[in-house]
Amino acid sequence: HPSPDYDLSTPIDPNAVGLRQKLPGYGDAHFSLFMRKLFIKALGYSEDALSRPIVGVVNTYSSFNPCHSNVPQLIDAVKRGVQLSGGLAIDFPTISLHESFSSPTSMYLRNLMSMDTEEMIQAQPVDAVVLIGGCDKTTPAQLMGGISANKPIIHLVTGPMMPGSYQGVRIGACTDCRNNWAKFRAGALDIEDISALNEELAPTGGTCGVMGTASTMACILVALGMMPINGATAPAVSSARLRIAEATGTHAVQLAKTQLRPQTLLTRKSFLNAIIVLQAIGGSTNAIVHLMAIANRHPAIAGTINLDTIDEFGRTTPLLVDLKPSGDNYMTDFHNAGGMLALLHELKPLLHLSALTVTGRTLGEELVFTPFRPLPPSPTPIIRPFASPLYPSSSLIVLRGNLAPRGAVMKASASKYTHLLQHRGPAVVFTSPSDMASRIDSPSLDVTPSSVLILQSIGPVGNPGMPEAGLIPIPRKLAAQGVQDMLRVSDGRMSGTAGGTIILHISPESADPDSNLGIVRDGDIVAVDASNRTLTLDVSDEEVCRRKAQRKESQAGTGTGPWEARRGVRGYRGLYMREVNSAEEGADFGFLTAVGPAGRDTVSD
Ligand code: FES
Ligand code: MG
Repeated sequence: HPSPDYDLSTPIDPNAVGLRQKLPGYGDAHFSLFMRKLFIKALGYSEDALSRPIVGVVNTYSSFNPCHSNVPQLIDAVKRGVQLSGGLAIDFPTISLHESFSSPTSMYLRNLMSMDTEEMIQAQPVDAVVLIGGCDKTTPAQLMGGISANKPIIHLVTGPMMPGSYQGVRIGACTDCRNNWAKFRAGALDIEDISALNEELAPTGGTCGVMGTASTMACILVALGMMPINGATAPAVSSARLRIAEATGTHAVQLAKTQLRPQTLLTRKSFLNAIIVLQAIGGSTNAIVHLMAIANRHPAIAGTINLDTIDEFGRTTPLLVDLKPSGDNYMTDFHNAGGMLALLHELKPLLHLSALTVTGRTLGEELVFTPFRPLPPSPTPIIRPFASPLYPSSSLIVLRGNLAPRGAVMKASASKYTHLLQHRGPAVVFTSPSDMASRIDSPSLDVTPSSVLILQSIGPVGNPGMPEAGLIPIPRKLAAQGVQDMLRVSDGRMSGTAGGTIILHISPESADPDSNLGIVRDGDIVAVDASNRTLTLDVSDEEVCRRKAQRKESQAGTGTGPWEARRGVRGYRGLYMREVNSAEEGADFGFLTAVGPAGRDTVSD
């Protein structure tokens, strides 16, 4: 019988659900719907299928992305969950970013992925969306785009990889990639060892198996309420992961009906829970940049969550999860110890339990609702009891001072030589990653274990994408003497899987003509005092002003330096360089934030 969709006397509601929503502008809504239906029927859908709530499933599979290798199976399981619950699941692609296959950096492409995600959610007639992703920049990009699109969303992560083994020792990407490479550089491993390790460091698909950025963001999604509590830790290759996917499909159909949207679900309390979890897991420093970008996408949150909030809530939050790089274990251990459910029970006194979650229940209700049986006590628990933490508080700290007036970040709990947390030493300055690469291993480099290694020009504009070059290698001549950690300072990032006494994300970045990081010279005394949260360049104000003026003069009108040159850069790179905001704001594009471009340091014509 005839479809009521073509009844010309009944106007089509532009705010309707399913196929009727967001019709393309042919000027004739009935014709637009007629066209939409005839095309999608080419894929074999029936009128009955097309009358159901539509759950979009974002497909971020790519043969360049081993962290997403299980996405096809996850899509199948999500679709099963959607269809068992009476919805229609339709998957669609967005770009796929892997850390090692996203030159110059995956961070450079994070904002592009967020735009892709936002616009495809907006463009297509979906009532709710399952965001499948996992690798470091994917989940933040998806949440940033999802908040901006503000249709109901739920996250499904691909899950961590399993650990591997070499010579009877468990290993896993990518803390052990870095540790073993450092040993190889120092001559403690030979080329046969390093070749064999290369075969075993990522023994299955899935995200890095330590508390790197991917795992951190998965735990943060739970804390924010954007993913069910059991969603963060199940291994990528487990059947549990597929059952989580099926349940996610079920939740998504409910979301399609309730229309609970991220801008409603997420409140300041959700973000405070995320920060508490970030500190308790000793999470990745990258997650701080992502959290700022995510918060600044939300019109009611933007500007109310900042670096100081991270530091403030760190002071009362102990580090409880004993995972590399801050501790010793792997994500599978965290999962087997009860995962986020057990951690949230331990953190209950600190959490804001009235915050809403994607199931429609509050976090507190979820903790009551989800069956929980604590593990028997153990002398070496993976999740430490609140009373005997791995690190008492402030695993991630925020430093300020004349070297970082708008802030810098350090994972204090990952320091190998804790005396470096209160340290003064002479700077050894590298002006760029290539300068560093050419001199760091030189036998004539004037460096001692108490030197402070400074790397300039790796900030968001200075080296578009803000590379993970902040883990400055220990100069080979010192590494060969057994030196494993030094104080290292930059405006860049480091991998969440890395450790050491490393200060990152200095703002303003060194490429900024007003930056003090940009005028540090060899031999200047740099002082860090982690307990007082200060990072100081021991150079007089007059000398700082003199050097800055000199620097501006030498660059003025020459079009040199990224700050000047960005006006003339074409394509996405030009867009990135002109629009990216600073690390402490999230390194997002200003025009994508809830605040918009107003009030920013925009490049005038
Ligand atoms: Fe994808 Fe580590 S490279 S999570
Ligand atoms: Mg990473």
